[in-house]
Amino acid sequence: MIRLALKTSTWNPTETEWLRAANTISEAERDRISQFMYKRDAKQSMAGRLLMRNCFSQLSGAFPESFVLSRDTSGKPYLVNPPATLTALSFNVSHAGDYATFAGSNSAKVGVDVMKVELRRNTTVEQFFGHMKRQFTDFEWQRIRSPGSDRGKLFNFYRYWCLKESYVKAIGTGLKFGLLKIEFDIGRMEDDICRTTTVAIDGVIDSDWRFEEVYLDNHFITIAVQGEDSTREHVEDNVKVVKFDDLIVSKDMLDDEKYFFSFNEKKECP
Ligand code: COA
Ligand code: MG
Repeated sequence: MIRLALKTSTWNPTETEWLRAANTISEAERDRISQFMYKRDAKQSMAGRLLMRNCFSQLSGAFPESFVLSRDTSGKPYLVNPPATLTALSFNVSHAGDYATFAGSNSAKVGVDVMKVELRRNTTVEQFFGHMKRQFTDFEWQRIRSPGSDRGKLFNFYRYWCLKESYVKAIGTGLKFGLLKIEFDIGRMEDDICRTTTVAIDGVIDSDWRFEEVYLDNHFITIAVQGEDSTREHVEDNVKVVKFDDLIVSKDMLDDEKYFFSFNEKKECP
């Protein structure tokens, strides 16, 4: 299993970096990124694509820019005509808060979700929970609200949110699956990691699934895993935080400086 995180909030790409990154992705991906209004969103989308292509390149030995990606009807990216080494690869990306994250496995089905533990200004925890009422079962709300402090409740909320989303992203449906059909019983976090959480679908525990929950730098990163991961001996490995320089990206720069200016002119988030 490959588990990566790139801290996008502190990534301030130089012109060379951005043009190399832009050369690593497809024209359609560049077009999409050029449409974002904020730098934050452009960086996160770019980081997601780089993480995916980095993994494909690492596993197959081919150049990261050589892969063709498309999306299925639910929006989930997949590889078009993957080389033999990647036909069984399940992969997924998530970006939120300060991070873009990636999980990939050659034998298990995976989905990843990241969320920053935060509360909008001028909102109370209970007001926030009020908007999310229909996303969790009564049992889950009981668990979410069980800590005495607001911070503890918020922490549990995001933990549950990431669990639900990692699952619906692994199966590929996204949120239309219906989050109330999925019920989690969360395990104890030890050293900011938990691997003992279980899931029930329509009331029946599904032991084919396991969940890797990592609390890192005020974010939850959760990977849903169905089936055996062939690299299970590395199960204690944590999410690896990488920098742009650690990624395999194109050696060549995109021969169009305008592309960097369009990035540089995007707004900072309010
Ligand atoms: N299944 C699996 N992965 C999918 C997917 C699907 N059906 N659709 C898209 N993805 C992948 C893509 O790679 C996408 O990134 P990209 O567009 O840059 O390539 C990535 O997942 C996005 O994941 P994430 O960053 O976690 O986004 P999200 O949390 O906004 O939502 C979904 C992802 C797939 C669940 C989406 O269906 C959705 O509806 N989200 C709403 C989220 C929401 O309401 N959040 C409130 C939290 S309090
Ligand atoms: Mg998400």
